[in-house]
Amino acid sequence: AVSLSPKLFIHFLSIGIFSLAGFHVTMSTIPNLKAKFVKAKVTGVDMCKQNAEPIPEAMGVIAGSVFLITMSLFIPIPFLQFDKTRVFDDLQFESLIAALLSICCMVLLGFVDDILDLRWLHKLTLPTIASFPLLTVYAVTYNCTWVLLPKPFSFALNLGIFYYVYMAMMAVFCTNAINILAGINGLEVGQSLIISLSVLIFNLIEITSTSWKVHLFSITFILPFICVSSALLWYNWYPAEIFVGDTYCYFAGMTFAVVGILGHFSKTMLLFFIPQIFNFLFSCPQLFHFVPCPRHRLPKYNPKTNLMNNSHFEYNPKQLGIIGYLCLKFARLFRLCHEQTISPNKVICTNFTLINLVILWFGPKREDAVVRILLFIQIACSAIAFFLRYYIVQFIY
Ligand code: UD1
Ligand code: MG
Repeated sequence: AVSLSPKLFIHFLSIGIFSLAGFHVTMSTIPNLKAKFVKAKVTGVDMCKQNAEPIPEAMGVIAGSVFLITMSLFIPIPFLQFDKTRVFDDLQFESLIAALLSICCMVLLGFVDDILDLRWLHKLTLPTIASFPLLTVYAVTYNCTWVLLPKPFSFALNLGIFYYVYMAMMAVFCTNAINILAGINGLEVGQSLIISLSVLIFNLIEITSTSWKVHLFSITFILPFICVSSALLWYNWYPAEIFVGDTYCYFAGMTFAVVGILGHFSKTMLLFFIPQIFNFLFSCPQLFHFVPCPRHRLPKYNPKTNLMNNSHFEYNPKQLGIIGYLCLKFARLFRLCHEQTISPNKVICTNFTLINLVILWFGPKREDAVVRILLFIQIACSAIAFFLRYYIVQFIY
C-alpha cells in the first residue's frame, strides 16, 4: 500500500473534488427545477403544516442523477495508469460498473414508484430485481458464501445459494426500512446521512488494514453520496421546500446495500441500521395486517398547537385474530402503544412506528423537535454499533 500512497492521495483528492462539485450542482439544480416539478404535478401535500400548498415530490431523483453523473465522470480516474500499478484492478472495475447499474436501476424504479404509486408487492420485487447486477458481480469476483458462526460454535459454514438470498434480502431491507421510517421533514435524508457518515468513519478506520481496497471502494461511493444528500437535506429540513420521495429512499438503501456487500461488511452495515431494524420489527403487525394498517402512519398534526400528536389505527376487538391480539398484548406490556376504547366495537391504538413511540414517550412536540430526537437516536445507535463492532465482537467470535 505504501508504494500506492501518491495514487491514494490523488484518488482521495479527486473523489473529494468531484463530490464537492456534486454538492454544488445539487444545491443549484433543486431551486431551478422546483417549478418544473410543480408544473408536471409531481407534488405532495405536507400533512404536518397549516397551509397545504403542493410541494415538489420525488426530488431525490435530482440527488440520484447528480450522484450517477459524478460517478460516471470519476470512473476513469482510478483506472489511469501512470506506471504499471493502479489503485483499482479489473475486478474492482467490474464491481464499480455493476454497482452503478444497480443504483441506477433503483433510482429509475423509485421514480416510477413515486409517479405511479406502486403497490407493496412491487416495493419488495423492485429492489430484488435491481440487486441482480450486484449479486452477479459478487458471484464472478468474490463468491465467498462462507460465514463464521459465533461462539460456542466457532466454525465456518457454507451458506451457498442462501448467501445470495441473504444479500438480495439486504437490498430489499435497506431500501424499504428507510422508506417506512419516514413522513416528517428531514427524516429520510437525515437518517441516511448519519448512516453514511458512520460508514465513512468505519471505512477510514479500516483503510489501514490489509483489505484497504474494498474500503477505498466504499469511500468512493459514500463520499459523493454524503455530498448530494447534504444538499438535499438543506431543502428538505423543516419547514421542507421539497420532498425526497421514495426515489431517494431507494437510492440511499441501494447505495448502502452495494457498499455493504461489495465492501464485504454487510453485517457491520446492518449494525448501523439499529433504529430501522427496530422500526421494521415494530411495524410487522401492521405490515403483515395482523392489525389494521392505514395508508399513512405519520404523526397527526394539530394546527391549533402546531405540535405533532400520535396517529392511530382503529380496530374492532371482536374481529381481531389471535396473532393480532398477541401483538397488542405484547405492545401493551412494554408500553409501546396507547389505546382508547371509543365503543365496544371500536378501539383506537397508536400506530406501531418509532416516530409515534417517540411522541408517546416524550410527549407532543413540534415537527423539527421530533426529527431531532429521532436523529439523535440514530447517532446514539451508531455509537453503540461501533462499540459492538470493535469491543463486544471479541467475546462473540
Ligand atoms: C411510508 C409509510 C407511511 C408514511 C409515509 C410517509 C409505512 C408502511 N408506510 O409510505 O406510513 O406515512 O411513508 O412518507 O410505514 N410527507 C409529509 N412530510 C414529509 C414527508 C412526506 O407530509 O416530510 C407526506 C407527503 O404527503 C408525501 C407523502 O408523505 O406526498 C409521501 O408518502 P409515500 O412515500 O408515498 O408513502 P409510502 O412510502 O408508501
Ligand atoms: Mg415513501
